[in-house]
This record gives sequence, structure tokens and C-alpha cells, in this order.
Amino acid sequence: MTSGTSGTTNIVACLALVFTLFMNSSVANPTRAETDVEQRVSDLLAQMTLAEKIGQMAQVNVGDSYIHDYLAEGVRGGRVGSVLNVVDPDIVNELQRIAVEESRLGIPLLVGRDVIHGFKTVMPIPLGQAATWNPDMVREGAHVAAYEAATTGVNWTFAPMIDISRDPRWGRIAESLGEDPHLASVLGAAMVQGYQGDDLAAIGTIAATAKHFAGYGASESGRDYSTTNIPENELRNVYLPPFRAAIEAGVASLMTSFSDLDGVPATANEFLLRQVLRDEWDFDGLVVSDWDSIRQLQIHGLTANDRESAVEAIRAGVDMEMHGDAYLNHLESLIEDGKIDADFVDQAAGNILRVKFRLGLFERPYTDRAILPPIGSEHALATARRAALQSVVMLTNEHHVLPLDAGSLESIALIGPLADAPYEQLGTWIFDGDPSMSVTPRQAIESLVGDDIEVSYVRAMKTSRTRTTDGFAAAVAAAGDADAVVLFLGEESILSGEAHSRADISLPGAQAELVRQIRATGKPVVAVIQAGRPLTLTNIVDNVDAILFAWHPGTMGGPAIADLLFGIASPSGKLPATFPRMVGQVPIYYNQKNTGKPPTPDTIAHIDDIDPHAPQLSLGMTAFHLDAGYTPLFPFGHGLSYASFEYENLRLSTTELNLGESLTVSVELLNTSPIAAHEVVQLYVRDLVGNVTRPVKELKGFRRIYLEPEERVTVEFELHTDDLAFYGRDMRLITEPGEFHVWVGSSSETDLMTGFRIVGPD
Ligand code: NOJ
Repeated sequence: MTSGTSGTTNIVACLALVFTLFMNSSVANPTRAETDVEQRVSDLLAQMTLAEKIGQMAQVNVGDSYIHDYLAEGVRGGRVGSVLNVVDPDIVNELQRIAVEESRLGIPLLVGRDVIHGFKTVMPIPLGQAATWNPDMVREGAHVAAYEAATTGVNWTFAPMIDISRDPRWGRIAESLGEDPHLASVLGAAMVQGYQGDDLAAIGTIAATAKHFAGYGASESGRDYSTTNIPENELRNVYLPPFRAAIEAGVASLMTSFSDLDGVPATANEFLLRQVLRDEWDFDGLVVSDWDSIRQLQIHGLTANDRESAVEAIRAGVDMEMHGDAYLNHLESLIEDGKIDADFVDQAAGNILRVKFRLGLFERPYTDRAILPPIGSEHALATARRAALQSVVMLTNEHHVLPLDAGSLESIALIGPLADAPYEQLGTWIFDGDPSMSVTPRQAIESLVGDDIEVSYVRAMKTSRTRTTDGFAAAVAAAGDADAVVLFLGEESILSGEAHSRADISLPGAQAELVRQIRATGKPVVAVIQAGRPLTLTNIVDNVDAILFAWHPGTMGGPAIADLLFGIASPSGKLPATFPRMVGQVPIYYNQKNTGKPPTPDTIAHIDDIDPHAPQLSLGMTAFHLDAGYTPLFPFGHGLSYASFEYENLRLSTTELNLGESLTVSVELLNTSPIAAHEVVQLYVRDLVGNVTRPVKELKGFRRIYLEPEERVTVEFELHTDDLAFYGRDMRLITEPGEFHVWVGSSSETDLMTGFRIVGPD
């Protein structure tokens, strides 16, 4: 910040001091101990009428820039517990004023908003954040999002989305933390901590929501909202662990999924919402439906009308109805008619009030912009830049074409529809993101190289989906005149996210043809790809010298990409989801089961070479595709660096341990290059024999390590036998004695392996 007058300088200094105090402190109210909260919940419930309790269970969409009379009346009359989609602090404060000063019991409102990967300052999409494999980074990104959102009076976000997704066709994979239960658990918990801080009642923290409970990521064929078929054992071992981790991290709320799980939509699923969530996990926060998902129970075909939908949802354990009036219209008469027990309403209202007390809303219902850091602060932008930098995954780098050598380049051509697209780089679900704050790759490269390198820019395609090649001649000419070409390819933000699934996940439009024509110039070609999902890149991978996969990198994506292209920093992102060769391989994920006929490299046929009269059994009777083989194009955990690393001396503190004990896995990691860089060290385990079949590899630990040139470090992981637990045939969590393999390395395809045995009672 610069300022011309001393008065302004003082104000800036003052704000900076307030900001620093804010960043370093947690403003808690000591009177709000947990026991106190329980007492306050029951005292308040005792004063409430049935209608007021049901009122707390209603969440109303505001959406407009003024307060409708019906809304003001509803809040005044105690018929609204929460509002969503209002980010004007004056409106929020006025709504809170009506709630606190004019409703009978003065209960403040929960103010909800989708603050998914940033508020005004936008971090990389969650899938990109997952590629950082850096919980501290993810925590900080959510913290920034929280304090920016809190300036408007928003006190509740619907994030993190921790649905495991093994299907890149599904548009919402962009909002997820990828395919792996362990990675999503660790990063999801970090996100919760980032939004909520140490104290939900502190200024600048907001309540988080773990969503969507549960199984949404398994929508059939990646079609959003579609049916999911997940056997209970897989549900418990794969889809539920991130929710458990979020609850252990103190998440305030959960949102139900739109999807149908084994014939019972999640919003009516008593097994999920009562048995697992409340009885097994002791969750005492609030469960909100997804948008109108109570009324949608009828559309699913589970109920005949809204009244029956209300019965199903309340019995299952949905506390609050997001945008719908099934509860408001029917719960009271359902109780009067003896169709449902009034206790359900007490529990639901209690869960909602508990979150309101924990948020400190009764003491501090209003937002005060003056004590919050400004939007787009230096800290926010620096966080967004660091997150983008760590999220970019270098997929290939033939002949070390990257980093570009600024000293030897005289000119560079930037080509493609996403080189200078401030809105697109923000990605999906950015209701409040401000594209005017974006720094695009083109802007950042131009400012980085200044007058030293001549930069030309040709968009070549109107959008990523343009099918004509009309703009290609200018692009080819620019490439021909330049010493190197950077192609900015991918898909716009609208092509991923909710209800934005794709059946073909290759680069859309004529992009592959653009790559071919640029390749023909003979110039070094680097592709920077921005996208909301893993793409199939088989048709371009051999036509470019290097690929930086940047996801949708957010506000500061441009400077991050520029720094990586020119070697100011080394790429360090690792894939949080497998990249298939062909869409027909989906679902393809690293932690698959072995099957009874696992493929081996020597049994793989190449479809073009198959003799039409080849004997039926001659092609290798194993689990592979004739045309795609069995390996992905890029495996989970993959990501190259400008540095080179060697892993040596993988050791275990013991090769035999008892149940309940730990061992230490250690490995020496050596940076054999003159380049300082981060490496993400990954630990995988295989349980060789199980009561139910176990995955061929499972991530059990990871660490992002910074190494100076030629530095050698020893990296250690503590592995407890509880870390090896899984749900067996009887759906109980068990660790079984037996043999285990352990791998450590830089991706899920590492082959640096050793083993140990757990001994225990037979
Ligand atoms: C529907 C989405 O599924 C959910 O994730 C989101 O939080 C709500 N709409 C509110 O916008």
C-alpha cells in the first residue's frame, strides 16, 4: 500500500496494526465454555414454542439487494433460522437486527454462503489445492476465505466438499479434494480448521460444512445428481473417512447429498444421518439439507408429497431445510396428528442453536467491517499466489525444455484461449470472486520479462470449444516468429462444477489440432492447461515438450504460472486424481483392488497388433482393456520437478510389531540437482491378506519437504497399527495381524518397497 499524505499513512498504519492483531489473535468470549453452551441450548429450548423451534429449522434464500417484506416478517415472527446468499453487510446487519431486537426470543441468524475456494480473493479450485498436498496451505487459504467472507456478515460456509471422486467426468470433481480417502481426510480437516480457526466465536472465523453426506462423488457415469451404488463396506472404507476426519477437526455442520444411496436418498437416509453420524460418531453439530433436497424426495420417488418428505427427512435426522418449505408447512401438524415425535424437532432446533452459541452470535450478531482486514489484502494475495504455485503439476518435461531460459530467449509466443482470461482462471463456484483482481498468465509474463523478451499473444480460438481453425494461421505465424511457444489450453470454468459433467474429457474444440499445427513449426512448445478436472491428454502429450497442469488456479494464477515457466520456482504439485488415457478407463484409481486376475506388463495386447484369428486365451486373461491397457496416462501422486530427487535407504524401526504399537518408516531423500525445490514424499501400504480384500496400495502419509541444492534429508513417518484399520465383513473397524508392504516415493507408482508383519492373537 502506498500513500501520499501522512494522515492516510497513519490510517494505513493503524489498519495494519489492527490487521496484525487480528491475524495473531483469537477473540474469544471466556463465558462460552461448552458446558455453558449446553445449558444455554436447553434454557432457550425451554422458552420456545413449537412454531419457533420449527422456524429455526428453515433456511431462506435472500438473493436480492433488499429485504422483502415476507422475509422481514418471517424473521420477526421467528419463522427463519438462517438465510443464505446475502453478502451485503448492511442487509445482513439489518436482518440480524430484526432477529435480535424484534423477534420474541432474539435469536440471531445463521448467514450461509458458498465460500468454496475463496471469497473475493480466489484460491485454486479445491482439486488444485489438493494438488499442493499441503495442509498448511489449504488451512491458510480457507482462513483467508473466512475472514474476507466474514466482512459481509456471512458466518457459515458450505465447504469443504470432501466427496471422494474417482470420476473426472463428474463436474464437481473440481470442488473435491480428489480420489483418495487419506489425502481428502487430511486436507478436508485442514480446511475446516482454516474456516473455523481455534475458536468459532473468534472474529473472522466462520462455521464450516462438510458435504455432501454421503457418496455423491460416485454418481453413475459421472452424471451429476445421478444414482450412486456403493456397497456399505466401500462406503465405510472409502467415502466416509473424510467426514469422520472433518468431525474430529470440529466441523460445525454437515450437508446431505442430493444423491440416492442404495435406494434411499441421502436426505432421508437414517442409516447415514442417525446410525453412522449420531450414534457411531457422536456428531452434535447441525445437518442441513442440500438445496430443496427434502422436497426432491418426492421427485426421487421416495414419497408422494411434501408432507411425507418432511416425515422422511426429520426421521432421518435433517435439522435444517435449505430453501424449501416442507418443514415449515408440515412439521407442526405432523406432530399434532401424532405422525412424528416432537423430540425430533427439539433435537433439530437444539443442534442449530448449539452452532449459533458456538459461533458467539448471541454476543456478537453484527459484522463490523472496521475490525477485519481489507479484501484482497497483501496476505490474501500472497496466500493465493503460493497456493497456485504449489498446485501446478508438471506432467511432462521432455529434454528439460522447462524452465524457459530467459537469458537466451529473444521472443516468446503466448497462444490460446486461456492465456488472458481473468474470469476463467477463477474456476467454478466463485459467487463472490472478483475477476478484476485476477492477474492473468499473459499479464504476469509480460511484467516478468519486461523489455528483455518480446512477447506476442494470439488467442487463436474464441473459446476452448471453438471448432473452426480460422484463428490458427495467425497463431502459427506468431509461433514461427518466436523462439518458444506457450500454449494456454484447457476448459473454461463453466465446463466443470455442479451439473457440469462431461462425457468426453479430452481438450474440447479444435485444441488438439492447434497443438498439431504449432508443433509443426518445430519450435519448443509448452502447454499450460487450466481445467476443472483431470483430462485425457493422450492426443496431445507427444506433440508438446512439456505440460504444466494448472487446474483453475485462482486470482494469482498468472504470477504463479510465470514463476514456474521461468524457473523462479520449481513445480511441486502432485496429482490428487488419476489421469486416464481414455475416458473408457473411468473409474480408474490407484487404490484399486487386485482382482483374481491382475494384469501384468507381459500380458498386455495392443489392439492394432491383434491377429483376427488369435486364440481366445492368447491375449492374457487379465483385468485390462485391449485398447487402453491397464495403466493411466499419469498416476495419482505424479508430478515432476526441475530438481531431481533420489530416495535411498528405506528403513523400518522394526519389521514385526504387535497390535497397538507403532513403527517408524524412514527414508533418505536426496536433491541431486543444483535447484532448490519442494518434494512431496508419499508413503503407501498394502495389507496383503484381509478379511475383506484390500487395495493394492493405500496412501498412509505424505510430507512436503523443501530441499536446498544437493541437500540430503531423512524423512520419517510414524505408522500405528490403528492407521492400518479398515472395515471388515461385519462393518467393524479392525486391524488384522499379517504381512504388509510399505512403499515410499514420489508417486503412487514408486517401487521402493519393504515390508513388516503385525503379530497378534490368532
Ligand atoms: C447446491 C449444492 O449442491 C451445494 O453444494 C451448495 O452448497 C448449495 N446448492 C447452496 O448453494
